[in-house]
Amino acid sequence: MKDSLIIALDFPNKGQVFEFLEPFGNEQLFVKVGMELFYAEGSSIIEELKKRNHKIFLDLKLHDIPNTVKSAMKVLAGMGCDLVNVHAAGGSEMMAAAIEGLEAGTPAGLKRPDCIAVTQLTSTSEIQVHSEQLIGVSLHESVLNYAALSQKSGLDGVVCSPHEASLIHGQLGVEFMTVTPGIRPAESALQDQKRSATPEFARKQGISAIVVGRPITRAANPLESYLAINNEWKGVYQ
Ligand code: C5P
Repeated sequence: MKDSLIIALDFPNKGQVFEFLEPFGNEQLFVKVGMELFYAEGSSIIEELKKRNHKIFLDLKLHDIPNTVKSAMKVLAGMGCDLVNVHAAGGSEMMAAAIEGLEAGTPAGLKRPDCIAVTQLTSTSEIQVHSEQLIGVSLHESVLNYAALSQKSGLDGVVCSPHEASLIHGQLGVEFMTVTPGIRPAESALQDQKRSATPEFARKQGISAIVVGRPITRAANPLESYLAINNEWKGVYQ
């Protein structure tokens, strides 16, 4: 998990996924399956990616009553995902139930999937925190509060912005994972990520894993782009 580059497979169907993966040959990748792909293809996409030996982050951001989340996590653990997530806003009981469900669903002798929490979505603004969620502290303080609550509830880390990771590691330790989307190579367009950062910045912040979508999936040469971003992330300069 540590130092992983996770490719966001934001495609509408498995035909496009496997066409995209073709040039990577037998390289073992860490891939993220989100709602669009999972809702379109169901658990068969997980089975097929696992058959090809890829590691899987199933990004479904669960948020429901504790019992429902526990039952759902039991099913996801049985699929053999490596990383799953919930919304911290679901509360400490819900997060603890998620871990219980993962433990119950993991086949004997195997390690349960890691579980991380979304604190505040990176699309949420300071204004929304105050005027819609009626939270009286700053966005950063709310993120830190949710991160600490996630840790206390037994989770392994959080999804956060690259700009919040060092604050979180400073308060909660370097072992608590920070997984950050919004990564863009310096020369690439920002697309709709507002608070983006480069892979080099992410490494210097001590971020545990980065999630990269369009700079790889929409590149003219995805394999070349993946290798360049991964080198910058790992600090390998030719
Ligand atoms: O294409 P791009 O690199 O922006 O993709 C980022 C991925 O990370 C997308 O799959 C998006 O849904 C996800 N994500 C995000 N911001 C969050 C959580 C997840 O961009 N806060």
